[in-house]
Amino acid sequence: MSDRIRAEFNQWALDGRSAQLEAHHHAFVQQMIEKMRIQPRERILEIGCGEGWASRMLAKLVPQGMVAGLDAADEMIHNARLQSTAFENLMFIWGEVEAIPWQEKFFTRVVCVESFYYFENPEQALREIYRVLAPEGSVWILNHISKENELSLRWVAELNVPVRVMSAEEHGALFEQVGFSDFQHEMLPDLSPPPLSSKTFPNPAELQRFRETGALMMHATRK
Ligand SMILES: C[S@@+](CC[C@H](N)C(=O)[O-])C[C@H]1O[C@@H](n2cnc3c(N)ncnc32)[C@H](O)[C@@H]1O
Repeated sequence: MSDRIRAEFNQWALDGRSAQLEAHHHAFVQQMIEKMRIQPRERILEIGCGEGWASRMLAKLVPQGMVAGLDAADEMIHNARLQSTAFENLMFIWGEVEAIPWQEKFFTRVVCVESFYYFENPEQALREIYRVLAPEGSVWILNHISKENELSLRWVAELNVPVRVMSAEEHGALFEQVGFSDFQHEMLPDLSPPPLSSKTFPNPAELQRFRETGALMMHATRK
């Protein structure tokens, strides 16, 4: 267990920073979910689920299936469980992507929202994701911090944990090395309401460019 990741994101859960993430990421996740064409019986794993808001969105789409949210920060898992008592097809697990506590070939989808760049060993993470995916299952990753959105690199200095910034091309090479097929990527614009002001982007033209460039979405299939 990475003590640094756990301590940092436990702090986000305790001081309320994690409760603000849904407002920042919701519009991207909505776009990604529309592209996923999820079927009602699917079994979905969300890795780096935080307080679980995206897992709850997914759980509503799979009334005959299930969703599991996994996070390395136990306080995130605690908050996620407290907010999800109304769901019968949703569970949350404290654990790390590098050793996913689940059987092989189970999930039809794996989703990572704004978490992949924190993973200490991205190759091992992808090997584990591959292991738990069922044949023809797919992994969907959304990264607002990416080399494709140069302005997003400003966020890196504001974070207290190491971030591994990679381009779509670098991700694609890693996916292929692990055995995934059909790697695809696209940029999703930020469709959330614009902030009145931004400390990170005080220049309105830069803020607009940052929002228009948006987040890198990637997906690939386990054959
Ligand atoms: C920025 S938060 C995003 C949370 C959520 N996806 C959202 O958008 O609100 C990143 C999350 O990834 C989790 N995380 C980081 N490294 C992890 C790892 N190796 N295994 C599992 N979770 C991890 C953190 O604990 C944190 O909750």
